Amino acid sequence: MRVFLQSFTGKALALSLFALLAGCNGEANLFTSSAAPEVLRWMHPDADTVAILSEEPRECLPSLASSQDIFGRLAFRSPFLLGGQAARRGLTCQACHTQGQANPHFFVVGLSDAPGTSDVTSFHFSEELGDEIFNPVPIPSLSDEVETVSFSDKTDELNIFVRRLITKEFAGPEPVPDVEAALLSYIRSLDDAFCDTPTIADADLWTFNLRVISESFTALQSEPLSAEGQRFMMGALRIELGRLHDRLPYSPKVQASLVSISQKLNTAKHTEPPLGAATYEWEALQSELQPAFENSLFNKGAIEAWLAERIAN
Ligand code: HEC
Repeated sequence: MRVFLQSFTGKALALSLFALLAGCNGEANLFTSSAAPEVLRWMHPDADTVAILSEEPRECLPSLASSQDIFGRLAFRSPFLLGGQAARRGLTCQACHTQGQANPHFFVVGLSDAPGTSDVTSFHFSEELGDEIFNPVPIPSLSDEVETVSFSDKTDELNIFVRRLITKEFAGPEPVPDVEAALLSYIRSLDDAFCDTPTIADADLWTFNLRVISESFTALQSEPLSAEGQRFMMGALRIELGRLHDRLPYSPKVQASLVSISQKLNTAKHTEPPLGAATYEWEALQSELQPAFENSLFNKGAIEAWLAERIAN
C-alpha cells in the first residue's frame, strides 16, 4: 500500500536519487575503484562479497536464444539505455533485475531499506504517480509472469511501461527502435520454465559470462541492425568486455587482449568499426580464456585472495 504524502516534487526526488547514486553508496564500502567488479557497486556494505561474486540468479531463456533476444540482453545490461547520471554511474536494468530475475543483494543508500529492495515510486513512477516518500519494495523477477499477469490486458502495456521507465524515470533518450524491440523481446522471452535451478555459480557463472559475449559477436555478425542500433550494441558489448576485464585482475595478458578487442569496437574512433577483426580476436582468445577461470573473480579461492589483498592495502 502506498501512503500519500505531498512534500517534495517528483523532480526533486529524482535529483536526490541521482545525487545518491553519484556518491554515498560507493563511499560506504571498499569497492569504489572502477577496477572492482561492477556487481559490488550495488550491494550492502555488510553483504557477503564472495557469494555475490561467485553466484547469481540464472537467466531463464531458451538455450538457443534468438538474435533478437541476445541484442535485448545486451541492452538490458547496458547503462547507455538509460540517461544522464544513471548511465554515468553504470546503472542498468541488470543491476536490479539480474539476469531478468530479482537481485537479492541490490542496495543503494536512499533507495533501499533492505537488500533486494528499491523505492520505485520515486523512480519508475516519479513524474505522474510518485508519492515522494521512502517506501522501497522488493525488486520483482521478470521471468515469472510479467506479461501474463501485470501486462495482460493490452499488448502495448509492457512497451508503454518500459518506454516510460527509460525516458521519464531514468531521463534516457528515446530508445532506438530496433534496440527497444530487442529489449521487449528479451523481457517477453524470459520464462521460469527454462530454468532448472534458480541460481548459477562458480565455473558455470564464468561460462555464462563468456557465452554472453560470444553470442553477442555471433548476433552482430549475422543479424542486420540499423546503423544506430549497431552502434548501440557495439557500445554495450564493450561494456561486457570491460566487466570481464575487471574480473581478471590476475590475468594481465588476457586483460590486454580484451582492451584491444574493445578498442576495435570503438565506433567513436572508427567510422567503420572492424567488427570482423574484433570477432576474430575474441575467438582466438578462447584457448587462453578457458584456463583463466582459476584466477578469475568468479572463483572463490581467487576472490578470497583478492579481498585479502584489498583489505591489507
Ligand atoms: C533501481 C532498481 C531498478 C532498476 C534499475 C530497474 N528496475 Fe524494474 N523494477 C524495480 C522494482 C522495485 C519494481 C517493482 C515495482 C512495483 O512493484 O511497484 C520493478 C518493476 C519492473 C517491471 C514490472 C514487473 C511486474 O511484474 O509488474 C518491469 C517490466 C521492469 N521493472 C523492467 C525494468 C527494465 C526494462 C529496466 C531497465 C530499463 C528496469 N526495470 C530497471 C526496480 C528496478
